[in-house]
Amino acid sequence: MLDILVQEGDEGAGTEDHMAADKTILKALKGEVQDVPPIWMMRQAGRYLPEYKATRAKAGDFLSLCYNSDLATEVTLQPIRRYGFDAAILFADILLVPQALGADLWFVTGEGPRLSTITTQNELDQLRPVTDIHETLNPIYQTVRNLSGALPSDVTLIGFAGAPWTVATYMIAGRGTPDQGPAHRLKEVNRVVFDRLMDRITEATIEYLSAQIVAGAEVVKLFDSWAGSLKGEDFDTYATAPAKRIIAALKERHPDIPIIAFPREAGDKYIGFHEETGADCVAVDDSVSAEWVAEHVQTAGCVQGNLKSSHMVTGGAALESETRRIVHALNKGPHIFNLGHGITPDADPDNVQRMIDAVRG
Ligand code: CP3
Repeated sequence: MLDILVQEGDEGAGTEDHMAADKTILKALKGEVQDVPPIWMMRQAGRYLPEYKATRAKAGDFLSLCYNSDLATEVTLQPIRRYGFDAAILFADILLVPQALGADLWFVTGEGPRLSTITTQNELDQLRPVTDIHETLNPIYQTVRNLSGALPSDVTLIGFAGAPWTVATYMIAGRGTPDQGPAHRLKEVNRVVFDRLMDRITEATIEYLSAQIVAGAEVVKLFDSWAGSLKGEDFDTYATAPAKRIIAALKERHPDIPIIAFPREAGDKYIGFHEETGADCVAVDDSVSAEWVAEHVQTAGCVQGNLKSSHMVTGGAALESETRRIVHALNKGPHIFNLGHGITPDADPDNVQRMIDAVRG
């Protein structure tokens, strides 16, 4: 009996789903410095991949794909099969939370998301209570359960949600905005409604991420894509404080689950973000240099980033030299290699392989 157990152990993978020992992403998130950083890519399941486009066509449209657990599982696995990334990120969208709270949501091809807007107390009152979000989001938890059983044993499953400020910018404007003007205006003219909306999103995000963890997510990431437009004290109040509250609530319920925070374009505000929020890893965009990140941010813990995603379009020698520069600059501390923002639909899938080879080679 003992022999059999030892032999099974020797085979490496073992039989349990959640054997963490060989997961390089989890090692980095615990602070381990590795010779070769683990790697995954924001938007790794996406329109630059022909297999993604084929599955999306089968689903009909993007939202149907998100809510079809079998097809969402399939597109999550596609970049893992093609490239052997160290992490898979759940296929879903940050705007499913507003939808679960009762906002109308649709996507206009070639333009992006549209939502019914929330700018008054009356509109806020019409949202559903946070306890009701799971009714809409259950298929997403099913995708997480599917993936938990389907992923290779060395691949880490990352769940995610949008951070409250970024989600609020879409709920207030009803669409993406270049400067988040409508959200900034509501914050100035009706701070009571703005703060209540932020609270509602914060609470929903805690419940949503917690349910993803219960379903099998091993890491969760909070995307604050528009954090950079919050300046000074506003950044502390509407980016740092909600992240801190969400992370504290998740750590209380799931103390062993690492959390990645991505306050995109935070600039100097990246400094101290680990300590102020309790995040295990801070993801950085490409507006800061890896050398600066090593000196000012990585000293506090794991960092993720930060290759310009345009290299996935342009390729060539610059792709390889920039990749190596980032790996080198961040090799004295815990690092997860990634892009500074999501890969774009015009990227060349071969360039992704070149980036991976440059990181691992
Ligand atoms: O990274 C992954 O592969 C996981 C899936 C994922 C998607 N969106 C799929 C998606 C994740 C993590 C997101 C996060 C997301 N969604 C963010 C934060 C990160 C960021 O990029 O800043 C934001 C702001 C959104 C909202 C959103 N969703 C927008 C603005 C758009 C339209 C813009 C675009 O790229 O077309 C989406 C659509 C979307 N989300 C697509 C994908 C693959 C493209 C939809 C399609 O197939 O047509």
